[in-house]
Amino acid sequence: MSQARIPHHVAIVMDGNGRWATRRFLPRVAGHKKGMDALRACVRHCGERGVKVLTVFAFSSENWNRPAEEVSSLMELLAAALSREVPQLKGEGVRIHFVGERAALSDKVRAGLAQAEADTAGNTRLIFNVCFNYGGRWDIAQAAARLAAQGQTITEQSLDGALALSHVPDPDLLIRTGGEQRLSNFLLWQAAYAELYFSDKLWPEFDSAALDEALAAFAARERRFGMTSEQVTPATVRKVA
Ligand code: FPP
Repeated sequence: MSQARIPHHVAIVMDGNGRWATRRFLPRVAGHKKGMDALRACVRHCGERGVKVLTVFAFSSENWNRPAEEVSSLMELLAAALSREVPQLKGEGVRIHFVGERAALSDKVRAGLAQAEADTAGNTRLIFNVCFNYGGRWDIAQAAARLAAQGQTITEQSLDGALALSHVPDPDLLIRTGGEQRLSNFLLWQAAYAELYFSDKLWPEFDSAALDEALAAFAARERRFGMTSEQVTPATVRKVA
């Protein structure tokens, strides 16, 4: 696959774990565990394809409303990922950031998040943002509140710099698996010009071939950022396209 049209930043709503499990008469947590396997493979494949930033929605502000058992199993998955996956990711040149409201998480998990970030801070191959207890509205509100508390004027630029993902450029490609076609409070500000790609595959089934299909679909899109086709595409390319 050509490197020329590889998106710099890919964001993913990993939907469909629960349905994957239910269809197999398994508890929903089995779907999340399988989803973790798919995520591990996805991080690796993004690195191999030359994607520089990967941002995933692992736990939304609204996911607290799920059954207590499912919430605690997602917390346990996060804790297990911290001890099992982080050393591996560190060796693969991945820099991890956790994005979201940490106050509601246990001291132990909070310390684990900070440790994982510190352990991988020197890596540059792929930035991996894990959105956990994250919501797009939360992010915009916390950024605005912080600017207001500092007495700063709220402009597009100042707000952009105060958001939780200000360390990376906006996503170029936003993928949602599981057949639904909505943002569900993910990257509301940052997705303004993202190309959207919806897959019917459930997240545990979203393998490297499926990711390559999404990357190929992105490569075929024309991104105009509010301009005309003539402005963004040289005439020579337009003639043959
Ligand atoms: C949505 O599927 C998925 C989630 C809410 C959790 C995503 C978590 C993982 C992929 C595992 C990695 C986790 C961590 C902690 C890094 P759903 O349960 O809404 O599926 P459904 O729509 O089929 O019910």
